[in-house]
Amino acid sequence: MFYRALLVTAIVLTVPSAALTQESSSSLAGNAENGKKLFGIYFCWSCHGSNGRAGGTAPAIAPSTRSAEDLIKYVRKPRGPMPPYTSKSISDRDLADIAAFLRSVPKDPDLKTIPLLNQP
Ligand code: HEC
Repeated sequence: MFYRALLVTAIVLTVPSAALTQESSSSLAGNAENGKKLFGIYFCWSCHGSNGRAGGTAPAIAPSTRSAEDLIKYVRKPRGPMPPYTSKSISDRDLADIAAFLRSVPKDPDLKTIPLLNQP
């Protein structure tokens, strides 16, 4: 698990960010569809699971209510073992898209509403 995290960190730090990011924009509204792609490109999924629903080495980060500003703040300076992403490795604009994607992940349905799970 530790080595996997190291490997991911190495990959994250060597991805040429200029090739992946567009010009930084002042708008942080975010585009969920692009965010989904970026969630893959920046390897967030490798620790947080394919839709940010956990299942790997890190907690679930979706469904989310986090604003772009909050996500940017966190990712630049994580509290735990998560590798920090500087503005050189991922732009604010890309993180705003990822934030929009994480907010777009639907909540799990209430188990009581699934007939198969509620048979006598
Ligand atoms: C190498 C594994 C790894 C990668 C890659 C990774 N994370 Fe994390 N992330 C973690 C771990 C572990 C935590 C738990 C607390 C911490 O370390 O900060 C975390 C915590 C978080 C949290 C806070 C969760 C909470 O409960 O408050 C957010 C938000 C987050 N990550 C977003 C991202 C995004 C966005 C990306 C991609 C740009 C990403 N992470 C990539 C491992 C990772």
